[in-house]
Amino acid sequence: PAHRIAVIGGDGIGPEVIDQAVRVVEKAAAKFDKAEFAWNKLPWSTSYYQQHGHMLPPDGWDTLAKHDAILFGAVGNPAVVSDKVTVHELLLPMRRKFDQYVNLRPAFLFAGVPCPLVGKAPGAIDMLVYRENTEGEYAPVGGNLYPGTENEIAVQTGVFTRRGCERILRAAFEAARKRPRKTLTSITKSNAQVYGMGLWDDAYLAVRKEYPDVRSSSLLVDAAAMDFVRKPETFDVVVASNLFGDILTDLSAAVTGSIGLASSANINPTKQFPSMFEPVHGSAPDIAGKGIANPMAAILSAALMLDHLGLAASAAGTRDAVAKVLAEGKVKTPDLGGTATTTQIGDAVLAAL
Ligand code: NAI
Ligand code: MG
Repeated sequence: PAHRIAVIGGDGIGPEVIDQAVRVVEKAAAKFDKAEFAWNKLPWSTSYYQQHGHMLPPDGWDTLAKHDAILFGAVGNPAVVSDKVTVHELLLPMRRKFDQYVNLRPAFLFAGVPCPLVGKAPGAIDMLVYRENTEGEYAPVGGNLYPGTENEIAVQTGVFTRRGCERILRAAFEAARKRPRKTLTSITKSNAQVYGMGLWDDAYLAVRKEYPDVRSSSLLVDAAAMDFVRKPETFDVVVASNLFGDILTDLSAAVTGSIGLASSANINPTKQFPSMFEPVHGSAPDIAGKGIANPMAAILSAALMLDHLGLAASAAGTRDAVAKVLAEGKVKTPDLGGTATTTQIGDAVLAAL
């Protein structure tokens, strides 16, 4: 039977890059795994909000829950509607409602992509960042008093649970165990944030005992930020809290060449709910409608979806096709110094398949 995929292109460059991802993985899955998809395109976006007064219909979560996976572009058009509505009514609740507690963000230095760091060979940077995606610093816990006055007070609370820490750590250790280098780095700031991050460190020490075959260490986030720039090749699997993982993956995207290549998966490992696959970038209002966005981040995110659906050959074939186009260097979008269009990249990746 066909894999049922909900497709939310969203705003700006979201639908532009997702269209290319759909074309590519459809062909890859047919070729490598004889698999098929039933695509369900959902129009939820800023303009949908303007027409209906909500980002998704009242039965929208039930609709999504009936799919095997969700392919997501980006939402946000802050010139028209605040991100507090668009991002906060659709994207962030989806991660929590569907318990997508693993945010996987690979960072890989492809051949043919100029690295802003001196002397890094293709393939030298190859890390998987496991970001906790449902609690931590982004827990919706806090409040403010006396807004707008000199006495204004705001409290923003991080929420760390032993279950939440252990399950993201375990997911990261499982991944590290399957990789050649079998190395894991756990990132905290437990010298300053002793309670929440201290619990994370305790969970790390407990979980690492289950993985004697994995070489693991703990690193403070400020030192990690420095090492992501100074020696990113030393990292293999990295596991971090919601905020730290968010910030460090913009850094890992930058050191591997372009945000236009950064893919991500929001995974519910129990498969009780659908997982969601999206490029790391946003809707890029500055280049929306020009047809010049790099669709490779979306294509690589769709490849992560293929992995999740058990279509490993198709996923590998898709990544190889992207790598081939990058290595040849003939068709490149402006973010990589070229003049190609979004569709031309889609065409080139399809041809490479
Ligand atoms: P952004 O990622 O949309 O853009 C940042 C910069 O990167 C821009 O200069 C843009 O042109 C460039 N860029 C991004 N993707 C690119 C691609 N595929 N190819 C070439 N260049 C690319 O971040 P920004 O501008 O801070 O946010 C714009 C909107 O997107 C906001 O409303 C924000 O809240 C939203 N957003 C949504 C996300 C999501 O839905 N997952 C994630 C991040 C931001
Ligand atoms: Mg971010």
